[in-house]
Amino acid sequence: MPLLKKRPVCPVHGDALILSHHGRKSNIGSPLLEVRGAPILYCPACHEQRQDTSVEVEPAASNAFLRKLQRLIENSEFPSPLQRPKISVDFNPARAKPEGFDMPAGAIYDLSQPASGASAAPSLPEPESDLSLQTLRPREPRQNLDQLVLDSDTLARIHEAVNVLVSQELLFDTWNLASVARTGRRVALNFYGPPGTGKTLAADAIADLLGRKILVISYAELESKYVGETPKNIKAAFARAAEQNALLFFDEADSILGKRLTSINQSADNGINVARSTTLIELDNFDGAVIFASNLVRNYDTAFLRRMLAHVAFKLPAAEQRQAIWQCHLPEQLPLAADVDLAELARFSDGAAGGDIQNAVLLAASYASMRKGEQQVVARRDLERAIRFILDGKRRILESDD
Ligand SMILES: Nc1ncnc2c1ncn2[C@@H]1O[C@H](COP(=O)(O)OP(=O)(O)OP(=O)(O)O)[C@@H](O)[C@H]1O
Ligand SMILES: [Mg+2]
Repeated sequence: MPLLKKRPVCPVHGDALILSHHGRKSNIGSPLLEVRGAPILYCPACHEQRQDTSVEVEPAASNAFLRKLQRLIENSEFPSPLQRPKISVDFNPARAKPEGFDMPAGAIYDLSQPASGASAAPSLPEPESDLSLQTLRPREPRQNLDQLVLDSDTLARIHEAVNVLVSQELLFDTWNLASVARTGRRVALNFYGPPGTGKTLAADAIADLLGRKILVISYAELESKYVGETPKNIKAAFARAAEQNALLFFDEADSILGKRLTSINQSADNGINVARSTTLIELDNFDGAVIFASNLVRNYDTAFLRRMLAHVAFKLPAAEQRQAIWQCHLPEQLPLAADVDLAELARFSDGAAGGDIQNAVLLAASYASMRKGEQQVVARRDLERAIRFILDGKRRILESDD
């Protein structure tokens, strides 16, 4: 069965791309899995000019397969860690190399490896980037949707947007929306709102719902730490997320979502423009899920607007949500005094974000821990004192900003 319904052509030469089963696939990072080649499409003319424009055929499918396999090994019990099997996956069918396809020496990848030879095909070069691999390692989601307290409208918007990912097969394959979707299967969302309102929590919860890892990248960090290297790092982030089918989460994305600057006075401004353009290009080539989180952005670049499936506003919680947030931040084991009334606490904490409530619980518990014996319980005055302290501090900072 052909892998693609329509054979794509090279955008530079117009030649039909050739399917080769001698491509390469980088390992997905599990020490227990060894991965060899994968089918790729390449342009013979680019190839002659030693340009590596090859693309892997259906990387999502092979990545999904590898992830399943990895989960299976991780969740299986073995008598001892040493008896865990090492599994080798060879995506290259055992057949001869395509006729007339000899890779020139020094080419970027070596397709002349024997299909099922003893030596493992070297993996794809890591995307060149200044970010350490540690930073670019997707992690398991830390929270789930049950822990996210939002008003019903915001929750519904999140569910609707995420459903595009959950129902991909029905939408894109069975109903063939793949033929008309301008943005491919990519789903880009923008979460915006004040600090501590649950944007990161929501991203984690969505990754959890999708059964994917999450790759968290801070734009602000990219820009300040790696001056001049930002575009390279942005590319590396997209590549890593695609390779591992992770949900890509760009935190602190305010500057990147703003309008591109038309008069460039300083090189820093130019850097921002280049980073924005790189992000747009990478977004267009990305097939996965990406979430941008920002504090209030008023001046969106329309190029980003068009590419987002949804913008979700995270607001400060109303009293009803504050009560639920207090509730879910008080673990069963935390000793509470009888005078703690969550409805009252919710009224008392007007203006608090979920993050403030989280901090207040910790602070209140710390006050209680300094007492002895029967007094060592969290009382209403501890919680009120803690949240007042946090909100006063915030107010003072905001006033000094003005
Ligand atoms: N809507 C919410 N429901 C439940 N808990 C919340 C909510 N908002 C915040 N919290 C609590 O506060 C913590 C911090 O929130 P989170 O990091 O998601 O905020 P954020 O919007 O990403 O903030 P920032 O803009 O500063 O990155 C969460 O881990 C959670 O404990
Ligand atoms: Mg956050």
